[in-house]
Amino acid sequence: MLSGKKILVGVTGSIAAYKTAYLVRELIKLDAEVKVVMTAAACEFISPLTLSTLSKNPVAIEFIKDEETGEWQNHVDLGLWADLFIIAPTSANTLSKLVSGNADNLLIATYLSAKCPIWIAPAMDLDMFKHFSTQENLEHLRANKVRVIDPTSGELASGLEGKGRMEEPEQIAQHIHDFFIGNSKIKGKTVLITGGPTYESIDPVRFIGNYSSGKTGVLLADECANRGAHVILITGPTHAKVQNPSIKVIGVKSALEMKAAVESHWSESSVGIFSAAVADYRPAQAADEKIKKSSDSLQIDLVKNPDILFWAGQNKTADQYLVGFALETENEEANGVKKLEKKNLDLLVLNSLRDKGAGFGHDTNKVSFIKPNNKIRNFELKDKSIVMVDIIDEIESDLA
Ligand code: CTP
Repeated sequence: MLSGKKILVGVTGSIAAYKTAYLVRELIKLDAEVKVVMTAAACEFISPLTLSTLSKNPVAIEFIKDEETGEWQNHVDLGLWADLFIIAPTSANTLSKLVSGNADNLLIATYLSAKCPIWIAPAMDLDMFKHFSTQENLEHLRANKVRVIDPTSGELASGLEGKGRMEEPEQIAQHIHDFFIGNSKIKGKTVLITGGPTYESIDPVRFIGNYSSGKTGVLLADECANRGAHVILITGPTHAKVQNPSIKVIGVKSALEMKAAVESHWSESSVGIFSAAVADYRPAQAADEKIKKSSDSLQIDLVKNPDILFWAGQNKTADQYLVGFALETENEEANGVKKLEKKNLDLLVLNSLRDKGAGFGHDTNKVSFIKPNNKIRNFELKDKSIVMVDIIDEIESDLA
């Protein structure tokens, strides 16, 4: 599945444009989010209505979105939105513009703004394809990391036979699928993730909790599931929702419930990522009935909760990989190294509250990775969802 992946499909003027409808349909079937940008010539071959209906998004064609208001089509946003931009079909004309950077249409302007991987699926007559101009353009693009999906051989619209047919949409969708999750080291592995806060009952209507939103656990779960892992997300109360339907979500309330759920799933897991903000203490005794405000003061006896991550570290086999999080305010690295050792972790993700824009209530985060043998990597301030990608990439780089 490609859940959570944003694919921008470019369409140019070629008879193969009818196949783009099938490509968009395949990508939607794989649960990708799809947007389409077309050249004016492409609209002669396939209607924007077909592609907007299939992609479930408006199709971008002109620089001006709305003639009346003069609202412009933001090609920069569109380019930055995409996780992958595939131009299928790519005509000989567009091919030359991709090389020269001649941005006389929205598709090329978007291409020049995009920071994601660019793929092209050329489609043209065999002599156009063989021509040295076309071949040189393809070479130039390949040398600049554009992935070319070679055309196949067969009967062409001109009636001639040869190489020039755009690759079949199902095949292109399969390549995209493989690109995102095919080579992932966590594909097929079980990943256990804890997330969210825990609520520790005082009485039937009150609890001790914390401000964790649970977003980190959900983002991690989606990232792993999108790479093909079997994900078990054990989360405390949260409004954040996973997008990937394959994720098994186990909702818990208290630290003790979370520990019980972790204990019953840890042995089947290859990777554990413990991002939950577990309450360190719980009321020694939760009252059976609502506590009345009969006295002027109230003492609640607290007892320490079990450290779930510590338990997993103690019960870790050589084949299991364990990740913990820490929030430190002073002596960050030294405390992080101690925590890594004490909890028998393979990776500790350290957040420092001292960094501007990091920690609670921000969409950005600045982390360091601490690994055994004092291996430390410091990252820049980044969007939280990108930090999740860095974490999973780091785990994958360590897996055999
Ligand atoms: N953790 C856990 N169970 C607990 C407490 C913490 O699984 N009862 C996990 C968290 O999910 C996180 C890591 O342990 O991965 C946090 O460790 P902790 O020692 O609680 O770090 P800090 O919150 O930084 O706490 P301290 O004040 O003890 O340094």
